[in-house]
Amino acid sequence: MRVVALMLRPWDPRDAGQLRPPLDDPAVRRSTSPLPPHAWIASQTAEGRHAFAVLRDGAIAGHVVLKRPRPGQWEVGYWTAAHARRQGVAGWAVEQITGWAFARFAMASIALIHDVDNLASCAVARHCGYLLDAELPPHPSYPQPGHRHVRHRA
Ligand SMILES: CC(C)(COP(=O)(O)OP(=O)(O)OC[C@H]1O[C@@H](n2cnc3c(N)ncnc32)[C@H](O)[C@@H]1OP(=O)(O)O)[C@@H](O)C(=O)NCCC(=O)NCCS
Repeated sequence: MRVVALMLRPWDPRDAGQLRPPLDDPAVRRSTSPLPPHAWIASQTAEGRHAFAVLRDGAIAGHVVLKRPRPGQWEVGYWTAAHARRQGVAGWAVEQITGWAFARFAMASIALIHDVDNLASCAVARHCGYLLDAELPPHPSYPQPGHRHVRHRA
């Protein structure tokens, strides 16, 4: 049996060397700022964000972030590196950050928003107990229709 060790830790500028393949992936570029690795890491440590590298056996396998786009509103975001997909990485990471967020902050709920055609992201939302809350029409910043899922504090 192979035991896989998953861990979250804050992004570090020294992770930049491992970030080129995931940040160049068109699927990831749809979901995060298209920046070179060092600038991308700096953008993730901005105020109002709690962003973590997902490490699998010590190597970068993904990203998960808790954002506060507006006061009182919280949202989770994520990506998994292509080589690590469909192996439970995002489901694990979103569950971890959700539990941490409800324990640390006083929010009543966290939102998860994805393009309607992003079936993988919809599956992650369902897997982590984020229930479909609304269908969102296209918006200048988000040209595709979307799904808003919400998980409420237990
Ligand atoms: C969406 C994404 C993060 C999923 O990551 P992942 O690590 O492969 O997801 P997991 O392995 O944890 O899978 C979680 C669930 O989603 C399902 N799933 C994952 N990829 C899927 C796919 N392509 N199609 C259908 N279901 C999928 C899994 O089967 C699992 O379902 P379960 O409830 O039966 O266990 C990954 O595909 C990705 O990084 N995509 C590009 C970036 C992106 O879209 N980010 C989200 C923006 S909102």
